[in-house]
Amino acid sequence: MIDVDGQKRAAGEAAAALVETGMIVGLGTGSTAVWFVRALAARKLNIIGVPTSKATEELAAGLGIRIGELGETRTIDLTVDGADEIGPGLSLIKGGGAALLREKLVWEASSRCVVIADAAKRVKTLGKFLLPIEVVAYGHKTTALRICDALAEFDLGVAPMLRRRDGEPVKTDGGNLIYDAACGRIEEPAALAAALKSVTGVVEHGLFLDLADLALVGGPDGVMEFEP
Ligand code: A5P
Repeated sequence: MIDVDGQKRAAGEAAAALVETGMIVGLGTGSTAVWFVRALAARKLNIIGVPTSKATEELAAGLGIRIGELGETRTIDLTVDGADEIGPGLSLIKGGGAALLREKLVWEASSRCVVIADAAKRVKTLGKFLLPIEVVAYGHKTTALRICDALAEFDLGVAPMLRRRDGEPVKTDGGNLIYDAACGRIEEPAALAAALKSVTGVVEHGLFLDLADLALVGGPDGVMEFEP
């Protein structure tokens, strides 16, 4: 029986095996992506990695992976990244590590996206995990009220909470703030995504829809593959 960390590791290693020499590879963020980056570095392929956060950049560069910036390279061939929830059709919640904006920029620039996770991340309906919403710092309390109104349209009458660490608001790599919304059940993810994006001050949200091409999920007995 493989424990949770072993499941993350197995998924990360399975994803690293998909990388071929010469590829431009998007490097995800989070504890599962760390296993991927480590396994990828160990293969010593001639690739360029495009990190989705400063933390991943430091890790990858330290392990000898050549780093490229988004936009400097041609299209990204393959991005591998973790998720907080994997729902129907490989709809995802991401952003538990506050890297959702850079992650989404890299995912959307990628020809293929592979999500890696442990088995506990699979859900029937998205929303048990807090939905991260990245907002600009200026006027964020007003933006939060407008997010509240947008959520209420979907009967998600929850006040989003400003994410803090050690009592201080968490700042993203882009200098923005994160609000987390306890949605419970997100029945209409696409409509909710559009409503959140329409709020001025919202930079991005953690719903990743129609982006993942494959999920590699570590389970108690090995890695399972899922397609949308
Ligand atoms: C980072 O902002 C997130 O999107 C992560 O990819 C996500 O939180 C998964 O992290 P773990 O692999 O640590 O669970």
